[in-house]
Amino acid sequence: MAPLTSTVPVLDDDPYSVEILTDPYPFFDRLRAAGPGVWLGAHDVHAFGRDAEVREILEDHRTFISGAGVGIVNTHHHPPLRKPGILEVDPPIHTRMRAAMDGVIAPRRLRPRRKDFAAFAKEIIDEVLSTNNGEFDAARLAEKFVLRVFGDAVGIPREGREENLLAQGAANFSTFGPQNEIARRWIASAEGTYDWVLENCAREVLDPSGMGSQIWEFADSGDIDADEATLLVRALLSAGLDTTIFAITNTLRVLSLHPEQYAKIHADPRSVKYAIDESFRFESPFQSFYRTTSRDTVLGGVDLPADTKVLVFPGCANRDESKWGDDAHLYDVSRDAGGHLTFGMGIHQCVGQPISRMEMDALLSAFVTRIAMIEPTAEAEPLIHTTLRSYASVPLRARAA
Ligand code: HEM
Repeated sequence: MAPLTSTVPVLDDDPYSVEILTDPYPFFDRLRAAGPGVWLGAHDVHAFGRDAEVREILEDHRTFISGAGVGIVNTHHHPPLRKPGILEVDPPIHTRMRAAMDGVIAPRRLRPRRKDFAAFAKEIIDEVLSTNNGEFDAARLAEKFVLRVFGDAVGIPREGREENLLAQGAANFSTFGPQNEIARRWIASAEGTYDWVLENCAREVLDPSGMGSQIWEFADSGDIDADEATLLVRALLSAGLDTTIFAITNTLRVLSLHPEQYAKIHADPRSVKYAIDESFRFESPFQSFYRTTSRDTVLGGVDLPADTKVLVFPGCANRDESKWGDDAHLYDVSRDAGGHLTFGMGIHQCVGQPISRMEMDALLSAFVTRIAMIEPTAEAEPLIHTTLRSYASVPLRARAA
């Protein structure tokens, strides 16, 4: 296949190769430098990596729809790789599913959970400081924290979370990109976990005070139907764990590599929220997803006929110099990074953002208050995933304040 616009720049990089997944930033630089939109020959798809075009695609949900799948597969023509949920529906179905989710994840409903998050953060930090001379793995710490506090907030049983939810989340995100060797491996490693998730999302198993049960209340009042409620509870689990675990892991890693930045938030723990946004901007955990054109259109000088898949890279847009300045490639917790695209934009912008932020704020506020310094004790091991970005292991040493 070839692009319709003959002048569109062509790149032969494969963004789903191990090399680029290990370190995507040189590719991102080439992508932004090549033009507003490029043709990726490796997958016969138009890709966008500059802030302006990624933002425009995500904000214009009528032209760039989600209903044909937000992965590489056009589900108007091919069977979907997973049952389409809230992410992959357009209005009006999206509107009512979203209202239920927004109702459950509203900051006012979440606030009472903050003290449980803070209490568990304290427990985890006590453990870091009292064992192994302060040596710990940031990836394991993030898993432990999110599995407990987020799992409890949803209201699913504690037993079996670790064995099932991590693999299930990673497998779910493996359906966004091409089904290459990397994606197939993640999907194979999740075998059997799907049944556990289904059983433990059932209404009768959910804790009545959790977000899962609250979604069912929207079904009771007729706002959504039972199938939609099931899909929404599953969406909480498949979209909410790995992303936040990886965000915490990435944040601790980048802070350990920038001791002068860590020192700033240690000196002023109230500035943690700025560090969180800068970390989201700097290392987006959710790297790439798709839209499909509903009509012929032109974007950044690129002709896009109706029914064309477009690939967006929010983490690439987050380092666009025309938006963030010449130092876009630098990690600076003093920056106002609030306008990043890590949570997307427009009607599908991440509905879980408030809880994710609350988890990170509870953990990092306690962390930077009690811990004066973190340093790497060995090289971090990248986690190779076609859609998510993080590290399988980040060995660090903490020194108490
Ligand atoms: C740092 C953590 C997170 C990141 C980076 C992230 C990222 C994203 C992004 C980029 C989107 C938009 C995708 C699109 O436009 O196609 C999205 C949507 C979504 N996220 Fe998150 N997410 C995070 C945490 C969570 C959490 C904790 C939950 C659950 C409580 C969650 C649930 C969802 C759902 C259900 C949607 C679909 C919203 C819709 O279609 O209206 N996410 N997320």
